[in-house]
Amino acid sequence: MMSVVDQMQAAVSDLVQPGKGILAADESTPTITKRFNAVGIESQEESRRSYREMLLGTEGIGEFLSGVILFEETLGQRSADGTPLPEVAARQGIVPGIKVDKGLTALANGQGDKITQGLDGLPERLAPYKEQGARFAKWRDVYPITANNPTRLGIATNAEVLARYAAICQAQGIVPIVEPEVLIDGDHTIDRCAEVSEAVLNAVFHALHRHGVLLEYMLLKPSMVVPGKDHPQKANPAEVAERTIRILRRTVPAAVPSINFLSGGQSPEQATANLNAMNQGHAGVPWELSFSYARALQEPPMAIWRGEAKNVAAAQAAFYKRAKLNAAARSGKYTEEMEKSS
Ligand code: 13P
Repeated sequence: MMSVVDQMQAAVSDLVQPGKGILAADESTPTITKRFNAVGIESQEESRRSYREMLLGTEGIGEFLSGVILFEETLGQRSADGTPLPEVAARQGIVPGIKVDKGLTALANGQGDKITQGLDGLPERLAPYKEQGARFAKWRDVYPITANNPTRLGIATNAEVLARYAAICQAQGIVPIVEPEVLIDGDHTIDRCAEVSEAVLNAVFHALHRHGVLLEYMLLKPSMVVPGKDHPQKANPAEVAERTIRILRRTVPAAVPSINFLSGGQSPEQATANLNAMNQGHAGVPWELSFSYARALQEPPMAIWRGEAKNVAAAQAAFYKRAKLNAAARSGKYTEEMEKSS
């Protein structure tokens, strides 16, 4: 039996590979229902199963993906030929992981800030997840930006909860993905996003230290530093990369092996171009810079699939293309020209 540290070292080695990133396919039932409804797909246990089988069964996708984050429901589902879906991923060389948080609720006295639930009973939930094949986990905290948010209370409390989650996972040999998401909603400037992101990451790493989390055996999944979605000015990839790397350097210790960004409502092309700029312009950073996208990898294939078997091949081709381009961006080798190829 491997020690918990050896288990985590093996999972990190498998997750952090040149030219590969992580697929987030862990939308909770309400979230996947919202995404499905937006493109006219009915959300049922069977449509969610066949959609996720379609993604994980894409031939050759393991060339670009080292890991996949699953929702609890998916962990127990099987492909049409009876193979458990985590096993379908593992056969492609993709490490299965599990979202373990139970979503957001209002933070009392937080003036609109949120807090993530799911710590109660977490140690007991991890053992069966592990038996079903999960080798890493994910927990997402969110930070809305307004004139008053996030509050100091919101920043401190969310950091504490993220660190407790990470420590609980590591005690059982599960690699935690620590996801503090500064939300893109609003008309704030890129400066304001940078200021909030720095304060959030600072609090998160202090809390991880207080809780004794081993930084070598976790991954960070942050948002990029961008202007609010409703801000009139957009930022180009070089600026996003510059601003993001600057605050990461100030806050993230070199012991963290990899930073895998979320896409957070950027278009698929933007998310790819921004990741590429980070890998092109900042060769000296101590961590790997990769992706852990949900929407930026799934939007094109979901819109093509639409719940119909006859669309599977075209949807898989669209998924393969986005994964391939993000894998190129992860090495700074993406060009806009590549968007034109089929
Ligand atoms: P997006 O890439 O769509 O932001 O999702 C990433 C994720 O896992 C959110 O928890």
